[in-house]
Amino acid sequence: MSNILLGATGGIACYKAVYLLRLLKRAGHAVRVVMTKDAARFVGPLTFETLSESPVYIESLRGAPIDHIALSTWADLFLIAPASANTIAKIAHGLADNLLTAALLATKADVMLYPAMNEAMFLNSATQTNIETLISRGYFVAKPASGELACLENGAGRLAEPEEILEQVDIRLAIGRFKPLFAGKRFLITAGATIEAIDAVRYISNYSSGKMGLALALAAENLGGDVELIYGARPLKSGLKNTIYAKSAEDMRQAVLERVEKADVFIMNAAVADYTPRHPNREKIKKTADSINLELVKTVDILKEAAKLKRRGQFFIGFAAESENSEENALKKLKDKGVDLIALNDVSNHEIGFNSDYNEITAFFADGERVVFAKQPKRILAYRFLLHAAERINSR
Ligand SMILES: Cc1cc2nc3c(=O)[nH]c(=O)nc-3n(C[C@H](O)[C@H](O)[C@H](O)COP(=O)(O)O)c2cc1C
Repeated sequence: MSNILLGATGGIACYKAVYLLRLLKRAGHAVRVVMTKDAARFVGPLTFETLSESPVYIESLRGAPIDHIALSTWADLFLIAPASANTIAKIAHGLADNLLTAALLATKADVMLYPAMNEAMFLNSATQTNIETLISRGYFVAKPASGELACLENGAGRLAEPEEILEQVDIRLAIGRFKPLFAGKRFLITAGATIEAIDAVRYISNYSSGKMGLALALAAENLGGDVELIYGARPLKSGLKNTIYAKSAEDMRQAVLERVEKADVFIMNAAVADYTPRHPNREKIKKTADSINLELVKTVDILKEAAKLKRRGQFFIGFAAESENSEENALKKLKDKGVDLIALNDVSNHEIGFNSDYNEITAFFADGERVVFAKQPKRILAYRFLLHAAERINSR
């Protein structure tokens, strides 16, 4: 578990930092809190002090129980949430006029910032330029969420939810620092299961939850990519701005074919039905006959069809969920479908794959490299997988 220095700055979203502190502690991290004077006007230091089981630091006066250097060397991770426009500007310019900014200037720890402010403040070119400076310095700066803001306007500027911040902290601690390697790259990613109607109320589907595809989409976005996610039926909350929903294999096919040309990277992770009822019944089939025959016809292989449209510069990744002869089938898919990478997961192992939070993948690259990603949370695996493929993706 890690030493996390939680910095809170002046904004209404400070109240969420209280819950974040609780989650960080519950996850086993040691947390110390440093606040700006303005933050202390929004939430009393006593609350943070009680929950962190440690004094809260605000002033950097001589004789204070701890100074900015001691604080900054203690931390493995410096997490600023919420990060005000004012503090972001100060950090971007190397100012150190309070304990928080002084500790930040002195730290060698990894830094993550979660901006929270009114949308106009966030979109102001001054703030945007400051954020770019921080990103170029290797800091992680989260995209604020959209929704109702403290000023009662709607827009981008909300502090991310504490659960989401905790998850990103755990990922960052596991992966280490990364740069927005995919800046300017457009990703098209499919996720989840399709459903094929039998009649008005019944369908054929599979156990895919879309967790892996969603993890890939979030990782690609945090690595700087522009992501469009095509999510199958029964989607989880994606949190991504560009999410398109596709219910059946045919809906998924159309959604992919309409968009794939514009993508630099296409990841076909959805578990699309291989067969669909030939004549779905418009009404609910009555339970009168002792048995019924359901005729199924093969659906179109979306990855194969999309790969035929593949142009130079594009990178295509397919996922293969196999339960037997896995490796042989994965290599066959790599060749038959004309893609750059096939990621194999063995769905006969119930501890990983469909619907699990964990996965284990063997990646087969078209150039012959083969890499095993051992069992780990999908949210972390997605980063390791994309980071491994990054050089090849970016050399296109
Ligand atoms: C009620 C109120 C709410 C505010 N909310 C925010 C906010 O959400 N984000 C922000 O960047 N500034 C906000 N401000 C302005 C900051 O508090 C102000 O810029 C302050 O100087 C920030 O200081 P700090 O960065 O040292 O904490 C708010 C101010 C007030 C009075």
